[in-house]
Amino acid sequence: MTHAQVHHITHPLVQHKLTLMRDRNASTTTFRTLLGELSMLMAYEVTRDMPTQMVEIETPLEKMQSPVIDGKKLVFASILRAGNGMLDGLLRVVPNARVGFVGLYRDPATLQAVHYYFKMPADMDERDVIAVDPMLATGHSAVAAIDKIKSVRPRSIKFLCLLAAPQGIATLQAAHPDVAIYTAAIDRELNSHSYILPGLGDAGDRIFGTK
Ligand code: URA
Repeated sequence: MTHAQVHHITHPLVQHKLTLMRDRNASTTTFRTLLGELSMLMAYEVTRDMPTQMVEIETPLEKMQSPVIDGKKLVFASILRAGNGMLDGLLRVVPNARVGFVGLYRDPATLQAVHYYFKMPADMDERDVIAVDPMLATGHSAVAAIDKIKSVRPRSIKFLCLLAAPQGIATLQAAHPDVAIYTAAIDRELNSHSYILPGLGDAGDRIFGTK
């Protein structure tokens, strides 16, 4: 089966800000600010094919037909907890988008994903979901989150991250070949603790200052 595309966002501003975020000496404030800015920039790319409709407006000079998006049709689904670090930036660009949350952890004994929180808007069949998590590492949480999101039957799903490991991309594409992946970087590999190398460390800890 053919896979939906992997969109590698190579814009110089995105790459510059990502470099600053990777630096181990970036403070929590700097890291969080940069993630917000990057999320805004990446929002341009991930919403590039959003449908528009023409509405009539009046400029100071005359009436015209002009395109608008229907932001309410978009749902940013944050994969807890690190996904929350991307919400502010995304919502600045699409302020009337809806927001969903997917909370899951891996049971250490069974290694199965256990869902502890799931909240999405109503009428999902009319909405397009962008699932967000800064890190696509093993791909297991992304797959489990998208399994759950599919259970409410949205119109479409994309996956937006900052960094992806080749293994995470392969795992997500194998399980959900219809879900396009948007990332600012594809890093080399995972280490034995499933951290992305060279990566940027633990995204949740760096966003929330918990380490
Ligand atoms: N999650 C993180 O926060 N960092 C990684 O490198 C991998 C998963």
